[in-house]
Amino acid sequence: MKNPFQYGGIVEGAAFCNRKKELADLTAAFENSEKLFLYSERRLGKTSLVHTALRQLPKGRYASAYIDLWPTDGELSFVAATARAITESMSNTAGQLLDMAKQLFSRLTPSVTADAEGKPKVTFGFNMTGQPGPEIEEVLAAPAKIAERGKRKVVIVFDEVQQVLEYESDLVERRLRSIIQKHKDVSYIFLGSRKHLIQKMFLDRSRPLYRAAGHYPLGSIATERWIPFIARKFREGERVIADDAIQGVCKLTEGHPFYTQHLCHALWELCEPGEAVTDTLIEAAMKVLLDRESYAYTALWESLALNQKRLLKGLASEPAGVKPFAGAFVRRHGLGSASNSQRAVDSLLNRDLIDRDNGSFLISDRFFRIWIGQRQVQ
Ligand SMILES: Nc1ncnc2c1ncn2[C@@H]1O[C@H](COP(=O)(O)OP(=O)(O)O)[C@@H](O)[C@H]1O
Ligand SMILES: [Mg+2]
Repeated sequence: MKNPFQYGGIVEGAAFCNRKKELADLTAAFENSEKLFLYSERRLGKTSLVHTALRQLPKGRYASAYIDLWPTDGELSFVAATARAITESMSNTAGQLLDMAKQLFSRLTPSVTADAEGKPKVTFGFNMTGQPGPEIEEVLAAPAKIAERGKRKVVIVFDEVQQVLEYESDLVERRLRSIIQKHKDVSYIFLGSRKHLIQKMFLDRSRPLYRAAGHYPLGSIATERWIPFIARKFREGERVIADDAIQGVCKLTEGHPFYTQHLCHALWELCEPGEAVTDTLIEAAMKVLLDRESYAYTALWESLALNQKRLLKGLASEPAGVKPFAGAFVRRHGLGSASNSQRAVDSLLNRDLIDRDNGSFLISDRFFRIWIGQRQVQ
């Protein structure tokens, strides 16, 4: 039997665990044409969640487009990616694609080709001199036009939205702000990963998108949700995993979806049909994972300054919620002063190696935390 645990890409259907509350919240947000910022650290399940929520929408009442901004690097690729996603979400055949593209985007030059599987896809060329302002404007006006014309609600998702901070100007951010305010029948959902960048975009007064949308931080999945999900997959594969073994797994991964799936994947590989998962097997699976990451973790570790390493070791060895600027922590971990600790925290936050957590900090990569905890040397 194929390993049922998936990590890395978008998960859906039987590979998608729970998120009932979040799905209901998103559905309500779509229904009310809300503008939302859904953010979390990487690989926590934003894309999978929104993907599932969009698939559940009744087709007749909704049109939706999902735009992945990850591969974009400037205003032109933003325009091309957005125009393409909107056009493709509105049409099925090659003929429709071209028509739709022409109707919606008079400033762009569409062409339709077939992808490797023979499915038609549209690409856009440009025909312009000077700033891409009017093209951005036109592409961002399309969702409202569709809503008006089709009497349908429209949902637009921009994934990895922090990417716009890499663009040459803040033109896209400024245009986004004005459409967010104008388009009453369109729901805009912005997904973002690099937490400090997202905070900069939406919580910094000087940025165009300051407070332009509601906030929705996405958290881990609770252990009681993982228990039936994981137990069932083992059972279906004629293997056994007891509730307390799953609790052990979730304690190691803190319920983080990617790490939980990854660890279960390794555990499944080690567990023979007919066998039950034991603590020893969980330890062995953890070792397999850490060995696999060891090269990358070592390189990362070596790139850190001494106080950053001390701070990480402190976080890895102390219980959650520890205050790294407190005198006791500073002394125990040889940081010298609270301001050294502060500087280390700032640079680790900037690299997204740690994350704020209720007045404390946690190491973003759960396996890196365990790896650090197991290392004795400086
Ligand atoms: N609801 C879920 N149930 C089970 N696994 C999940 C779920 N959401 C995410 N995952 C796991 O996390 C991985 C990353 O998910 P993804 O949606 O790409 O996260 P993000 O968009 O936040 O980076 C998936 O490949 C999967 O292993
Ligand atoms: Mg994603």
